[in-house]
Amino acid sequence: MAERRIRTIADNVLYKPSKLVENFDSQLRDLVRDMYDTMYDANGVGLAAVQIGVLKRVLVIDLEKSGFIRGTFVNPEVIEMSDELIDSEEGCLSVPGLVSNLLRPKSVKIKYFNVFGEPQELYAQDLLARAILHEMDHLDGKVFIDLLEPDRYKVIEDEVEIIRSGESLSEKKLPAYRSN
Ligand code: CO
Repeated sequence: MAERRIRTIADNVLYKPSKLVENFDSQLRDLVRDMYDTMYDANGVGLAAVQIGVLKRVLVIDLEKSGFIRGTFVNPEVIEMSDELIDSEEGCLSVPGLVSNLLRPKSVKIKYFNVFGEPQELYAQDLLARAILHEMDHLDGKVFIDLLEPDRYKVIEDEVEIIRSGESLSEKKLPAYRSN
């Protein structure tokens, strides 16, 4: 059991695509355990393996406190997405201290494997659907800030640049137009 270092957007690994998991072995289960340890230590509700520098298509999510589920998703694929979109706030452990609203489908149906290599399906709505889609984007080298509409990106652009340069927001004075 070990927490591992969470990579921020200062690290190019976040922009690389992750590879399919082929072996459902003890190494995979060790990775998953470390992902949960790392996520809980950072008070997160979702983590993709690439966020600890491992380019494998593995996600962990724990939204039990919000009335959803805790789950491990290996090689997830979207089967269906709703046309209906929801506009809601989103953040990411790899972009510490920043949040923005982002449009996402209200519901999604996915297929995936559990850690034992057994095929599974899940229909998810609302916050769970958002979390799954956010984490699945990580597997394709995408971070939520890069999916924002230009007007919304502009609002956080300066802070994104601070994090991208490898500094944390608390070390830098925030722009004057933001009081909080
Ligand atoms: Co994220």
